[in-house]
Amino acid sequence: MSRLDLPDHVVANRAFWTHEAAQYVEPGRRNWADPEPSWGIWGIPESEARILPDVAGLDTIELGCGTAYVSAWLARRGARPVGVDITPAQLETARALQREHGLAFPLLEANAEAVPLPDASFDLAISEYGAAIWCDPYRWIPEAARLLRPGGWLIFLGNSTLLVLCSPDLDAEPAGERLLRPHFGGLGRIEWPDGSSVEFHLGHGDMIRLLRASGFEVENLVELQAPAGASTRYPFVTSEWARQWPSEEVWIARRRG
Ligand SMILES: C[S@@+](CC[C@H](N)C(=O)[O-])C[C@H]1O[C@@H](n2cnc3c(N)ncnc32)[C@H](O)[C@@H]1O
Repeated sequence: MSRLDLPDHVVANRAFWTHEAAQYVEPGRRNWADPEPSWGIWGIPESEARILPDVAGLDTIELGCGTAYVSAWLARRGARPVGVDITPAQLETARALQREHGLAFPLLEANAEAVPLPDASFDLAISEYGAAIWCDPYRWIPEAARLLRPGGWLIFLGNSTLLVLCSPDLDAEPAGERLLRPHFGGLGRIEWPDGSSVEFHLGHGDMIRLLRASGFEVENLVELQAPAGASTRYPFVTSEWARQWPSEEVWIARRRG
């Protein structure tokens, strides 16, 4: 894939994830080894979060799969997953973990905003901190709609809008108890202060309008609370904060027929 084919934020984010990939090998390995899915930076077990439908027999696509542990969890629950990621180094880790676990499924190097797969070929599209935050929602959500069959699920998890509004920057310092970023004009495309990468975070109204315009019905918005005593290796939020306010949210939508 030529650099020239890709939007600037995709090129920047691929370079960023090439640099980060080594740090995601061990977390990926731990998640692959975990028999139960667990979500986000607080590792909330699926038995509590309850965000997955019954995936047995479903064709699933993970958009921005990284080390692809979410797809591994889905495969063990009887799904037929495909993982998509733009960063070769992340896919190398995913392939190594597939070999370690004897669990193979297709992994595709592609931009999740323009996936080279046919229309209506999946029953579930999922992203945990993949396309959910690293791709332009006005590109990847219509693309997910194209890939899904009528009735198909779109499930994605990322930082909550409230967390983003309370964050001095996106990574280094923890969110505080004041609104530091305007809702109007301060959301959407957000560049990291060091210019290394680009994230996208919409307000809830814009997200609902985008999902509906793309052919989805919103079924749920699950606001995740950090469990008591939880900790995270990420510097952008504390457990005290995330016990009081949702630091992460999960959108669950269905493709209209
Ligand atoms: C944090 S990882 C997500 C995987 C895993 N769930 C996790 O939390 O570690 C983010 C992934 O998104 C991928 N990514 C970023 N932009 C992308 C794009 N435009 N298309 C596909 N993947 C992308 C990166 O390469 C990276 O592997």
